[in-house]
Amino acid sequence: MSFIVAQKEAKMAIKLKEIFHPKQHPVRFTLLVIVLFFVAFAALGVTSIQVWQYSNSTAFCANMCHDVHPEEIAAFEDSHHAQIKCVECHMGRVGTLKSMFIKAGHFKHVPAVIFGTYHRPLHSESFRSASESCELCHSKNALHGDTAKQVIRYQSDERNSEKRTYLIVKTGGSDPIKGLESGAHWHIVNPVEFIATDESKQEIKMS
Ligand code: HEC
Ligand code: HEC
Repeated sequence: MSFIVAQKEAKMAIKLKEIFHPKQHPVRFTLLVIVLFFVAFAALGVTSIQVWQYSNSTAFCANMCHDVHPEEIAAFEDSHHAQIKCVECHMGRVGTLKSMFIKAGHFKHVPAVIFGTYHRPLHSESFRSASESCELCHSKNALHGDTAKQVIRYQSDERNSEKRTYLIVKTGGSDPIKGLESGAHWHIVNPVEFIATDESKQEIKMS
């Protein structure tokens, strides 16, 4: 049975060689080369797009490198941003070409991941500016005003008694044209300068 199949395949190969013989049928041969070139080019293109897309997925970031500090992944999964991708903040919502350069820059962290020489806690060195990440989803001109929040917690006493905390979150906003300025988001359109007295910028002296 397999002998017959092999014979058939050999006959087919000879036939194809005759049909596309470079000297006897140069036009057909050239067309074949062009078609094969485009098929290979399309296959390479599709593979590259798939690899690029996978390299931008949360699964890639979370499992291939950033599993070395699982607390970042846990915080992400429990956040308002669990449905967006890591790269939408860490590379920003920039054009493909720019994000390719930014991603190539991330390779400099690979030795630290392999040899475990990264800082603990991590220091941010390469975060994108808010104008290239946050503000491309959250409009900086939106005014949020104040929000009343009720936080309910249960104590660890015998009756697990309820404790309610009421907060007024002064998110606010700022509109330079209308002249409205209030709350924490006031800083978005106004320059804020500060000098930190430690390297991780945790201690800011108020003057
Ligand atoms: C909503 C935006 C946002 C998303 C989505 C996000 N991050 Fe972050 N991440 C931040 C911010 C903001 C910081 C703090 C940067 C700073 O301190 O300047 C940070 C810090 C980090 C740091 C430590 C500091 C650094 O910049 O190297 C790591 C590592 C990290 N994130 C990994 C991840 C991973 C992995 C994901 C996806 C599973 C993710 N992040 C998703 C906003 C985001
Ligand atoms: C790709 C789009 C995207 C980017 C980039 C992004 N966010 Fe968000 N953000 C969202 C969405 C969508 C929600 C609402 C999620 C929900 O309500 O479940 C949200 C929610 C939030 C909330 C909660 C608001 C509330 O109602 O309590 C805050 C705060 C926030 N984002 C801040 C940031 C900051 C700071 C950055 C940049 C470091 C950022 N976001 C980047 C899409 C984004």
